[in-house]
Amino acid sequence: MKLNSILASSIKDSRGEDTLQIILATAKNTAADSVPSGKSKGSFEAVTKNVPDTLGIVNDLKEKILKKEFVDPFEFDEYLLSLDGTTDKSNLGGNTMLALSLAFWRLFALEENLPLYRVIAALSGREHNHLHLPYLMFNLINGGEHVGNAIGGVHLPFQEYFIIPSTESAIVSLEQCSDVIEKLKEYTTNKYPTIAQGDEGGFVVPEADPEKGLEILAKIKDETQGGVLLNLGLDIAANSFYNKTENTYEFLGNHFTTLELTNYYSQLLNRYELLSVEDPYSENDYNGFKSLNGLWGEKLWLIGDDLTTTNSDRLAKAIDEEAINGLIIKPNQIGTISETIAVAMTAQNNGFKTVVSHRSGETLDDFIADLAVGIGADAFKSGAPIQPERMSKYNRLVEIERELNA
Ligand code: PGA
Ligand code: ZN
Repeated sequence: MKLNSILASSIKDSRGEDTLQIILATAKNTAADSVPSGKSKGSFEAVTKNVPDTLGIVNDLKEKILKKEFVDPFEFDEYLLSLDGTTDKSNLGGNTMLALSLAFWRLFALEENLPLYRVIAALSGREHNHLHLPYLMFNLINGGEHVGNAIGGVHLPFQEYFIIPSTESAIVSLEQCSDVIEKLKEYTTNKYPTIAQGDEGGFVVPEADPEKGLEILAKIKDETQGGVLLNLGLDIAANSFYNKTENTYEFLGNHFTTLELTNYYSQLLNRYELLSVEDPYSENDYNGFKSLNGLWGEKLWLIGDDLTTTNSDRLAKAIDEEAINGLIIKPNQIGTISETIAVAMTAQNNGFKTVVSHRSGETLDDFIADLAVGIGADAFKSGAPIQPERMSKYNRLVEIERELNA
């Protein structure tokens, strides 16, 4: 595939911050993509450059890229990786590389006259596999770093509380989630004088006890009868309350050691039936992850995010340590779609669950929906189905579902 033009510009994300958009064109087709940004990031994520720098970098690369012809998107990503030449993407910036990579993959699908998810499936060696939609993890209660100083600073220390309908139909999931949101809105506005929304559109409840979020969702779940079974899940994002100096985890006035935290989680898991728990320990606490995986790994999806950062070396270590049985797949943690797919395939070959995820700072870009179907992800998280930046992904899944069922 030969590119005719490359256009880089700055657009605003869901937090009103600048982010990079790339528009690529061939003689026949045009594709645009933009990149998200995380707030509770893992230290092993690819380096992010500021937007003015990325515009300069793309400008410098333009001539070189336009001269070349690429057989497929793998070759394009490979070329970007060779131009960058680092393991942390510190020359070009992971965000610069990802915007180019996303738009190239999308454009390649247009040139092939195929839906993007089919191209991803075919190039991942899954073209003969049954294509299905992932479970949707709706983050309806927000805490941790995603709530800022909403409601006088009192908030839940855990970052995300999910409702996960147990169906591969996005249409049914979204329908059921609307019911839950209505009930949740009624419950929270009656109970609390003020209620805010977090970065991902979920409710911010003014409580310091992390169990309160589960209590609320469990109650709402019990009241929502008649549809498919609703599961609960958590992204604890424990980096945010880990004290490095003391090697303890701090919330509710306690300083938990790793062992004490494992006991605390076991109590919660005995009280609430959870499908999935993400990042219950800080990103280097392998002992913690191992202990919980040993105790609960048979029943629970124990998911790494800051632990693994969609990075093949970090995944290899997690496999080696038997730290988790699933992981978050976020393209902007690593920088190219080829690397993202490689990590997902390795994870799946090791029996791990894969959960494709947005970031807390998002744009309307819906690439990750096609990615999730293309790689056959088990689940997908894109926040509360309220903000347009979250809805664009869920709506793309609905579109794909209709295509697959046609
Ligand atoms: P982030 O949070 O996008 O702010 O990093 C999302 C997550 O931790 O899953
Ligand atoms: Zn996370």
